[in-house]
Amino acid sequence: MNLVRICDACTQEEVNKVMDAAKVAQKAWARTPLWKRAELLHKAAAILKEHKTPIAECLVKEIAKPAKDAVSEVVRSGDLVSYTAEEGVRILGEGKLLVSDSFPGNERNKYCLSSKVPLGVVLAIPPFNYPVNLAVSKIGPALIAGNSLVLKPPTQGAVAALHMVHCFHLAGFPKGLISCVTGKGSEIGDFLTMHPGVNCISFTGGDTGIAISKKAGMVPLQMELGGKDACIVLEDADLDLVAANIVKGGFSYSGQRCTAVKVVLIMEAVADTVVEKVNAKLAKLKVGPPEDDSDITPVVTESSANFIEGLVMDAKEKGATFCQEYRREGNLIWPLLLDHVRPDMRIAWEEPFGPVLPVIRINSVEEGIHHCNASNFGLQGCVFTRDINKAIMISDAMESGTVQINSAPARGPDHFPFQGLKDSGIGSQGITNSINMMTKVKSTVINLPSPSYTMG
Ligand code: G3P
Repeated sequence: MNLVRICDACTQEEVNKVMDAAKVAQKAWARTPLWKRAELLHKAAAILKEHKTPIAECLVKEIAKPAKDAVSEVVRSGDLVSYTAEEGVRILGEGKLLVSDSFPGNERNKYCLSSKVPLGVVLAIPPFNYPVNLAVSKIGPALIAGNSLVLKPPTQGAVAALHMVHCFHLAGFPKGLISCVTGKGSEIGDFLTMHPGVNCISFTGGDTGIAISKKAGMVPLQMELGGKDACIVLEDADLDLVAANIVKGGFSYSGQRCTAVKVVLIMEAVADTVVEKVNAKLAKLKVGPPEDDSDITPVVTESSANFIEGLVMDAKEKGATFCQEYRREGNLIWPLLLDHVRPDMRIAWEEPFGPVLPVIRINSVEEGIHHCNASNFGLQGCVFTRDINKAIMISDAMESGTVQINSAPARGPDHFPFQGLKDSGIGSQGITNSINMMTKVKSTVINLPSPSYTMG
């Protein structure tokens, strides 16, 4: 199956034109009342949901997302845009008044009025796994805050993203305010991210983000760069719940999620039972094309499949136990649980982004926490135990942006904060945090000729 849809690649000259138009459009947009911006976003959200079927079809064809998940991605995106409109009205409609006499040596003769103002042009670069949802998670906050937006969609998923942007245009957003530049990251990536017209970059993807952050210059950055999310399982956990979450967390969308469970760290005493339960569930997963709503579908590119295979073969050579036979046809890889993985295997540390999951047996909680914290990544993690006190202590000890107690890692609901530590990213996302990140604070200070105390 060829998952690549060809889109025109923009030239540098075309990128310049888009940037110029975005700059002009932003000036007028920043003068558009907040309620009006929110109204347009609500309209775009409704149109997006009306177009869920054709957009989902693009996702199925372009990125092999299972049909049901593809529809959910579009609906979730509409909800995200509506929530963003409401949240923006709440948080951007408020500013601060500070008075000077709280700082030593001052009388109350200065009033500082501060409010949040737009940054200018936001460059949004979402990844292939959520070309629509991770795009709107950047577009919505940028627009409600009064910015214009230039979207560089992923190569796989570009058609779905273009269709989504069209919904914003149908809603009546002014010309030039939201634009799409298509093309290969390797060809226009640097030109875009180092463009002098860009005032903020929101990027989700792999370690390209680290390179972007080194080149980007003095603009605010929001980056989510993947994870090696650990699932720590204690002896007292509900083992059925554990097995269900390992399968859902590790194998939904064939493991191609930043927040997928990417390593299971399980107490030896319960490992056999959980491995058996997980294997029973894996045997029931439907493997095949996305149109049939299969659970496991082809991974996005041949090079991804080759990379996954490299990790699997390295583990095999070093003695991991394969709970299923390793099977691959083209980009389609059958779900595989690797037991008895040890720290000298690449799969213990690297992110496969595929339907293969390592299990490391541990003899103490400390061992699990140590493995989790030795990773370069720190996106999310999870811990399964019935002891909430232990769960909180483990969560505090784990160097991850979020720890889920008794559930698999996940970004949503989309208004929750979402952030990575270490190489997993910079800044925090989630609707409220993204709106705040895409603004700066502007103050005006009123200087009175003499101190004035209210009712004084
Ligand atoms: O970048 C985040 C994405 O890969 C995971 O999102 O919603 O599947 O947890 P989600």
